[in-house]
Amino acid sequence: MKILITGGAGYIGSHTLRQFLNTKHELFVLDNLSKGSSIAINDLQKLRNFNFIKQDLSDFKGVKELFKKEKFDAVVHFAASIEVFESMQNPLKYYMNNTINTTNLIHSCLEENVNNFIFSSTAATYGEPKTEIVSETSTLQPINPYGRSKLMSEEILRDASKAKPEFKHCILRYFNVAGACMDFDIGQRYDKATLLIKVAAECAAGKRDKIFIFGDDYNTRDGTCIRDYIHVDDISSAHLAGLEYLQNNESSVFNVGYGHGFSVKEVIETMKMVSGVDFKVEISQRRPGDPSILISNANKIKEKTSWKPKFDDLKLICKSAYEWELKLIKEKNVKNV
Ligand SMILES: NC(=O)c1ccc[n+]([C@@H]2O[C@H](COP(=O)([O-])OP(=O)(O)OC[C@H]3O[C@@H](n4cnc5c(N)ncnc54)[C@H](O)[C@@H]3O)[C@@H](O)[C@H]2O)c1
Repeated sequence: MKILITGGAGYIGSHTLRQFLNTKHELFVLDNLSKGSSIAINDLQKLRNFNFIKQDLSDFKGVKELFKKEKFDAVVHFAASIEVFESMQNPLKYYMNNTINTTNLIHSCLEENVNNFIFSSTAATYGEPKTEIVSETSTLQPINPYGRSKLMSEEILRDASKAKPEFKHCILRYFNVAGACMDFDIGQRYDKATLLIKVAAECAAGKRDKIFIFGDDYNTRDGTCIRDYIHVDDISSAHLAGLEYLQNNESSVFNVGYGHGFSVKEVIETMKMVSGVDFKVEISQRRPGDPSILISNANKIKEKTSWKPKFDDLKLICKSAYEWELKLIKEKNVKNV
Protein backbone atom coordinates (compact mmCIF):
# COMPACT_ATOMS: atom_id res chain seq x y z
CA MET A 1 0.00 0.00 0.00
CA LYS A 2 0.97 3.62 -0.48
CA ILE A 3 0.38 5.24 2.92
CA LEU A 4 0.35 8.87 4.03
CA ILE A 5 1.23 9.40 7.70
CA THR A 6 0.34 12.91 8.89
CA GLY A 7 2.18 14.09 12.01
CA GLY A 8 4.75 11.32 11.48
CA ALA A 9 7.55 13.48 12.92
CA GLY A 10 5.72 13.76 16.25
CA TYR A 11 5.86 11.53 19.28
CA ILE A 12 3.36 8.78 18.45
CA GLY A 13 3.63 9.30 14.69
CA SER A 14 7.39 8.66 14.66
CA HIS A 15 7.01 5.47 16.72
CA THR A 16 4.29 4.24 14.39
CA LEU A 17 6.40 5.16 11.38
CA ARG A 18 9.21 3.09 12.90
CA GLN A 19 6.88 0.05 12.92
CA PHE A 20 5.55 0.73 9.41
CA LEU A 21 9.18 0.81 8.22
CA ASN A 22 9.29 -2.92 9.03
CA THR A 23 6.55 -3.54 6.45
CA LYS A 24 6.66 -3.38 2.66
CA HIS A 25 4.30 -0.38 2.42
CA GLU A 26 5.45 2.70 0.53
CA LEU A 27 5.47 5.51 3.10
CA PHE A 28 4.94 9.27 2.94
CA VAL A 29 5.17 11.48 6.01
CA LEU A 30 3.56 14.93 6.10
CA ASP A 31 4.39 17.19 9.03
CA ASN A 32 4.79 20.96 9.51
CA LEU A 33 7.43 20.29 12.21
CA SER A 34 5.62 22.65 14.61
CA LYS A 35 6.03 20.00 17.32
CA GLY A 36 7.62 17.19 15.37
CA SER A 37 11.34 16.58 15.01
CA SER A 38 13.48 16.54 11.88
CA ILE A 39 16.07 14.56 13.90
CA ALA A 40 13.58 11.70 14.33
CA ILE A 41 12.84 11.82 10.60
CA ASN A 42 16.56 11.76 9.69
CA ASP A 43 17.27 8.92 12.12
CA LEU A 44 14.36 6.86 10.79
CA GLN A 45 15.47 7.50 7.18
CA LYS A 46 18.57 5.44 8.03
CA LEU A 47 16.37 2.36 8.53
CA ARG A 48 14.65 2.59 5.16
CA ASN A 49 13.90 5.37 2.74
CA PHE A 50 10.53 7.11 2.86
CA ASN A 51 9.19 10.41 1.55
CA PHE A 52 9.09 13.36 3.91
CA ILE A 53 6.93 16.36 3.03
CA LYS A 54 7.19 19.47 5.22
CA GLN A 55 3.74 20.92 4.84
CA ASP A 56 0.92 22.31 6.93
CA LEU A 57 -2.43 20.56 6.71
CA SER A 58 -4.15 23.94 6.56
CA ASP A 59 -2.60 24.36 3.10
CA PHE A 60 -5.70 22.82 1.52
CA LYS A 61 -4.51 23.46 -2.04
CA GLY A 62 -1.17 21.77 -1.32
CA VAL A 63 -2.87 18.77 0.33
CA LYS A 64 -5.24 18.41 -2.63
CA GLU A 65 -2.34 18.49 -5.10
CA LEU A 66 -0.40 15.93 -3.06
CA PHE A 67 -3.40 13.56 -3.08
CA LYS A 68 -3.91 14.03 -6.83
CA LYS A 69 -0.26 13.30 -7.52
CA GLU A 70 0.41 10.38 -5.17
CA LYS A 71 -2.82 8.33 -5.25
CA PHE A 72 -2.51 7.01 -1.70
CA ASP A 73 -4.24 3.83 -0.54
CA ALA A 74 -4.42 4.78 3.12
CA VAL A 75 -4.03 7.71 5.50
CA VAL A 76 -2.86 7.38 9.10
CA HIS A 77 -3.75 10.73 10.64
CA PHE A 78 -1.85 11.87 13.76
CA ALA A 79 -1.30 15.59 13.06
CA ALA A 80 -3.15 17.66 15.63
CA SER A 81 -2.79 20.04 18.54
CA ILE A 82 -2.91 17.97 21.69
CA GLU A 83 -2.88 19.96 24.92
CA VAL A 84 -6.09 19.97 26.97
CA PHE A 85 -5.23 23.06 29.00
CA GLU A 86 -4.20 25.06 25.92
CA SER A 87 -7.47 24.05 24.26
CA MET A 88 -9.40 25.70 27.10
CA GLN A 89 -7.50 28.95 26.56
CA ASN A 90 -7.41 28.89 22.76
CA PRO A 91 -10.29 26.69 21.57
CA LEU A 92 -10.36 27.95 17.99
CA LYS A 93 -6.79 26.72 17.45
CA TYR A 94 -8.12 23.23 18.24
CA TYR A 95 -11.23 23.45 16.07
CA MET A 96 -9.12 24.75 13.19
CA ASN A 97 -6.09 22.49 13.45
CA ASN A 98 -7.95 19.37 14.52
CA THR A 99 -11.49 19.49 13.16
CA ILE A 100 -11.22 21.70 10.08
CA ASN A 101 -7.91 20.29 8.84
CA THR A 102 -9.16 16.75 9.41
CA THR A 103 -12.33 17.54 7.46
CA ASN A 104 -10.23 18.78 4.57
CA LEU A 105 -8.06 15.67 4.71
CA ILE A 106 -11.17 13.45 4.60
CA HIS A 107 -12.43 15.52 1.68
CA SER A 108 -9.20 14.85 -0.23
CA CYS A 109 -9.59 11.13 0.54
CA LEU A 110 -13.14 11.09 -0.82
CA GLU A 111 -12.15 13.01 -3.95
CA GLU A 112 -9.17 10.77 -4.72
CA ASN A 113 -10.69 7.45 -3.61
CA VAL A 114 -8.37 6.88 -0.67
CA ASN A 115 -10.50 4.37 1.17
CA ASN A 116 -8.62 3.53 4.37
CA PHE A 117 -8.38 6.12 7.14
CA ILE A 118 -6.85 5.47 10.56
CA PHE A 119 -7.64 8.26 13.00
CA SER A 120 -5.90 9.21 16.28
CA SER A 121 -8.71 9.95 18.66
CA THR A 122 -8.61 10.17 22.39
CA ALA A 123 -10.14 9.11 25.68
CA ALA A 124 -10.89 12.83 26.14
CA THR A 125 -13.97 12.23 23.93
CA TYR A 126 -15.57 10.48 26.95
CA GLY A 127 -15.20 13.51 29.20
CA GLU A 128 -15.96 12.77 32.86
CA PRO A 129 -17.38 9.25 32.57
CA LYS A 130 -19.99 7.90 34.95
CA THR A 131 -18.12 4.60 35.25
CA GLU A 132 -14.42 4.12 36.04
CA ILE A 133 -13.90 1.93 33.00
CA VAL A 134 -15.18 3.15 29.65
CA SER A 135 -16.00 1.08 26.59
CA GLU A 136 -16.54 2.31 23.04
CA THR A 137 -20.29 2.54 23.67
CA SER A 138 -19.97 4.72 26.78
CA THR A 139 -21.43 8.22 26.56
CA LEU A 140 -19.30 10.64 24.59
CA GLN A 141 -19.39 13.94 26.40
CA PRO A 142 -16.04 15.72 26.16
CA ILE A 143 -15.45 18.44 28.72
CA ASN A 144 -12.84 20.45 26.86
CA PRO A 145 -12.35 21.81 23.32
CA TYR A 146 -9.55 19.30 22.60
CA GLY A 147 -11.92 16.38 23.23
CA ARG A 148 -14.72 18.09 21.30
CA SER A 149 -12.44 18.82 18.33
CA LYS A 150 -11.64 15.09 18.15
CA LEU A 151 -15.24 13.95 18.66
CA MET A 152 -16.39 16.23 15.84
CA SER A 153 -13.73 14.68 13.60
CA GLU A 154 -15.02 11.23 14.55
CA GLU A 155 -18.59 12.24 13.62
CA ILE A 156 -17.43 13.64 10.29
CA LEU A 157 -15.64 10.35 9.57
CA ARG A 158 -18.79 8.36 10.45
CA ASP A 159 -20.92 10.55 8.18
CA ALA A 160 -18.39 10.34 5.33
CA SER A 161 -18.31 6.52 5.56
CA LYS A 162 -22.11 6.37 5.70
CA ALA A 163 -22.38 8.43 2.53
CA LYS A 164 -19.60 6.49 0.80
CA PRO A 165 -19.31 3.00 2.36
CA GLU A 166 -16.15 2.08 0.45
CA PHE A 167 -14.42 4.86 2.43
CA LYS A 168 -13.57 2.95 5.61
CA HIS A 169 -12.24 4.41 8.82
CA CYS A 170 -10.74 3.00 11.98
CA ILE A 171 -10.91 5.32 14.98
CA LEU A 172 -8.41 4.60 17.74
CA ARG A 173 -9.21 6.25 21.05
CA TYR A 174 -5.90 6.31 22.87
CA PHE A 175 -5.61 6.54 26.60
CA ASN A 176 -2.43 8.03 28.14
CA VAL A 177 0.53 7.33 25.93
CA ALA A 178 3.99 7.21 27.50
CA GLY A 179 7.52 5.82 27.27
CA ALA A 180 10.00 5.56 24.44
CA CYS A 181 10.71 3.09 21.65
CA MET A 182 12.03 -0.28 22.83
CA ASP A 183 14.19 -1.07 19.80
CA PHE A 184 15.30 2.23 18.26
CA ASP A 185 16.53 5.60 19.52
CA ILE A 186 13.35 7.63 19.26
CA GLY A 187 11.17 9.11 21.95
CA GLN A 188 9.33 12.29 22.72
CA ARG A 189 11.59 15.21 21.81
CA TYR A 190 9.29 18.15 22.40
CA ASP A 191 10.74 19.79 25.51
CA LYS A 192 7.66 21.71 26.66
CA ALA A 193 5.60 18.53 26.92
CA THR A 194 2.97 18.40 29.63
CA LEU A 195 2.42 14.63 29.77
CA LEU A 196 2.96 13.28 33.29
CA ILE A 197 5.46 10.48 32.63
CA LYS A 198 7.55 12.69 30.31
CA VAL A 199 7.66 15.47 32.92
CA ALA A 200 8.50 12.99 35.71
CA ALA A 201 11.30 11.54 33.57
CA GLU A 202 12.65 15.06 32.96
CA CYS A 203 12.66 15.67 36.73
CA ALA A 204 14.49 12.39 37.37
CA ALA A 205 17.03 13.27 34.68
CA GLY A 206 17.62 16.67 36.29
CA LYS A 207 16.08 18.75 33.49
CA ARG A 208 13.35 20.20 35.72
CA ASP A 209 13.66 20.95 39.39
CA LYS A 210 10.18 19.82 40.41
CA ILE A 211 6.92 18.31 39.28
CA PHE A 212 3.45 19.65 40.06
CA ILE A 213 0.53 17.46 41.01
CA PHE A 214 -2.57 19.27 39.78
CA GLY A 215 -5.02 18.51 42.55
CA ASP A 216 -4.84 15.92 45.33
CA ASP A 217 -8.48 16.18 46.38
CA TYR A 218 -10.10 14.04 43.68
CA ASN A 219 -12.37 11.18 44.65
CA THR A 220 -9.70 8.51 44.03
CA ARG A 221 -7.65 6.12 46.21
CA ASP A 222 -4.96 8.72 46.98
CA GLY A 223 -6.72 11.92 45.87
CA THR A 224 -4.82 12.25 42.58
CA CYS A 225 -6.16 11.58 39.08
CA ILE A 226 -6.05 8.03 37.72
CA ARG A 227 -5.19 7.26 34.11
CA ASP A 228 -4.58 4.21 31.91
CA TYR A 229 -0.94 4.62 30.82
CA ILE A 230 -0.01 2.73 27.68
CA HIS A 231 3.44 2.25 26.15
CA VAL A 232 3.90 4.15 22.90
CA ASP A 233 5.05 1.01 21.02
CA ASP A 234 1.75 -0.69 21.93
CA ILE A 235 -0.23 2.33 20.69
CA SER A 236 1.83 2.25 17.49
CA SER A 237 1.21 -1.44 16.80
CA ALA A 238 -2.56 -0.77 17.10
CA HIS A 239 -2.30 1.27 13.86
CA LEU A 240 -0.92 -1.68 11.94
CA ALA A 241 -3.62 -3.90 13.42
CA GLY A 242 -6.27 -1.28 12.57
CA LEU A 243 -5.18 -1.02 8.95
CA GLU A 244 -5.15 -4.81 8.62
CA TYR A 245 -8.62 -4.96 10.20
CA LEU A 246 -10.07 -2.54 7.63
CA GLN A 247 -9.07 -4.82 4.76
CA ASN A 248 -11.75 -7.38 5.69
CA ASN A 249 -14.12 -5.48 7.95
CA GLU A 250 -16.30 -2.42 8.16
CA SER A 251 -15.38 0.89 9.77
CA SER A 252 -14.97 0.70 13.52
CA VAL A 253 -13.87 2.44 16.68
CA PHE A 254 -11.52 0.95 19.28
CA ASN A 255 -10.26 1.99 22.68
CA VAL A 256 -6.52 1.50 22.97
CA GLY A 257 -5.38 1.10 26.56
CA TYR A 258 -4.49 -1.65 29.03
CA GLY A 259 -7.71 -1.62 31.06
CA HIS A 260 -6.21 -0.57 34.39
CA GLY A 261 -4.98 2.69 35.81
CA PHE A 262 -2.40 4.33 38.05
CA SER A 263 -2.68 7.54 40.06
CA VAL A 264 -0.40 10.53 39.54
CA LYS A 265 1.27 9.79 42.88
CA GLU A 266 1.84 6.14 41.93
CA VAL A 267 3.44 7.17 38.64
CA ILE A 268 5.76 9.63 40.40
CA GLU A 269 6.77 7.00 42.97
CA THR A 270 7.47 4.48 40.19
CA MET A 271 9.61 7.02 38.32
CA LYS A 272 11.57 7.73 41.52
CA MET A 273 12.06 4.00 42.07
CA VAL A 274 13.27 3.09 38.55
CA SER A 275 15.56 6.13 38.31
CA GLY A 276 16.79 6.07 41.91
CA VAL A 277 16.27 9.86 41.99
CA ASP A 278 14.15 11.53 44.67
CA PHE A 279 12.97 14.68 42.85
CA LYS A 280 10.78 17.42 44.33
CA VAL A 281 6.99 17.19 44.09
CA GLU A 282 4.63 20.10 44.71
CA ILE A 283 0.84 20.02 45.04
CA SER A 284 -0.89 22.62 42.93
CA GLN A 285 -4.49 23.52 42.05
CA ARG A 286 -6.67 21.28 39.90
CA ARG A 287 -6.52 22.09 36.18
CA PRO A 288 -9.87 22.81 34.56
CA GLY A 289 -10.97 20.01 32.25
CA ASP A 290 -9.21 17.11 34.03
CA PRO A 291 -11.58 14.19 34.80
CA SER A 292 -10.72 12.24 37.96
CA ILE A 293 -10.53 8.71 36.49
CA LEU A 294 -10.16 7.49 32.90
CA ILE A 295 -9.54 3.80 32.25
CA SER A 296 -10.22 1.88 29.05
CA ASN A 297 -12.16 -1.24 28.44
CA ALA A 298 -9.93 -2.51 25.63
CA ASN A 299 -11.64 -5.87 25.08
CA LYS A 300 -12.96 -4.94 21.65
CA ILE A 301 -9.60 -4.27 20.00
CA LYS A 302 -8.15 -7.42 21.57
CA GLU A 303 -11.06 -9.56 20.37
CA LYS A 304 -11.57 -8.15 16.87
CA THR A 305 -8.07 -7.29 15.66
CA SER A 306 -4.64 -8.91 15.75
CA TRP A 307 -3.40 -6.31 18.30
CA LYS A 308 -1.33 -7.80 21.13
CA PRO A 309 0.10 -5.36 23.69
CA LYS A 310 3.65 -6.22 24.77
CA PHE A 311 4.65 -3.60 27.30
CA ASP A 312 1.91 -3.47 29.93
CA ASP A 313 4.25 -2.67 32.81
CA LEU A 314 4.42 0.76 34.49
CA LYS A 315 8.02 0.22 35.64
CA LEU A 316 9.13 -0.58 32.10
CA ILE A 317 7.23 2.43 30.70
CA CYS A 318 8.82 4.78 33.25
CA LYS A 319 12.27 3.26 32.73
CA SER A 320 12.09 3.69 28.95
CA ALA A 321 10.97 7.32 29.40
CA TYR A 322 13.80 8.00 31.88
CA GLU A 323 16.48 6.38 29.74
CA TRP A 324 15.27 8.40 26.75
CA GLU A 325 15.75 11.64 28.73
CA LEU A 326 19.29 10.56 29.61
CA LYS A 327 19.96 9.95 25.89
CA LEU A 328 18.65 13.42 25.02
CA ILE A 329 21.00 14.98 27.61
CA LYS A 330 23.94 13.01 26.22
CA GLU A 331 23.06 14.05 22.66
CA LYS A 332 22.92 17.72 23.71
CA ASN A 333 26.27 17.47 25.53
CA VAL A 334 27.95 15.86 22.49
CA LYS A 335 26.65 18.68 20.27
CA ASN A 336 27.94 21.33 22.69
CA VAL A 337 31.46 19.88 22.70
N1 LIG B 1 0.06 11.76 23.49
C1 LIG B 1 -1.06 11.23 23.99
O1 LIG B 1 -1.11 10.78 25.15
C2 LIG B 1 -2.29 11.16 23.12
C3 LIG B 1 -3.47 10.63 23.69
C4 LIG B 1 -4.60 10.56 22.89
C5 LIG B 1 -4.57 10.94 21.57
N2 LIG B 1 -3.43 11.46 21.04
C6 LIG B 1 -3.45 11.87 19.63
O2 LIG B 1 -2.33 11.31 18.97
C7 LIG B 1 -1.91 12.17 17.89
C8 LIG B 1 -0.41 12.37 18.00
O3 LIG B 1 -0.09 12.92 19.27
P1 LIG B 1 1.40 13.11 19.76
O4 LIG B 1 1.41 12.91 21.23
O5 LIG B 1 2.33 12.32 18.91
O6 LIG B 1 1.61 14.67 19.49
P2 LIG B 1 2.81 15.44 18.76
O7 LIG B 1 2.57 16.90 18.99
O8 LIG B 1 4.11 14.88 19.16
O9 LIG B 1 2.56 15.07 17.24
C9 LIG B 1 1.71 15.79 16.40
C10 LIG B 1 2.48 16.03 15.12
O10 LIG B 1 1.62 16.68 14.19
C11 LIG B 1 2.32 17.77 13.61
N3 LIG B 1 1.29 18.76 13.26
C12 LIG B 1 0.44 19.41 14.09
N4 LIG B 1 -0.37 20.22 13.39
C13 LIG B 1 -0.04 20.07 12.09
C14 LIG B 1 -0.51 20.64 10.87
N5 LIG B 1 -1.49 21.56 10.87
N6 LIG B 1 0.06 20.27 9.71
C15 LIG B 1 1.07 19.35 9.69
N7 LIG B 1 1.57 18.79 10.80
C16 LIG B 1 1.02 19.15 11.99
C17 LIG B 1 3.30 18.26 14.69
O11 LIG B 1 4.42 18.94 14.14
C18 LIG B 1 3.69 16.93 15.31
O12 LIG B 1 4.81 16.36 14.66
C19 LIG B 1 -2.73 13.44 18.04
O13 LIG B 1 -3.76 13.42 17.07
C20 LIG B 1 -3.30 13.36 19.44
O14 LIG B 1 -4.53 14.02 19.54
C21 LIG B 1 -2.29 11.58 21.79
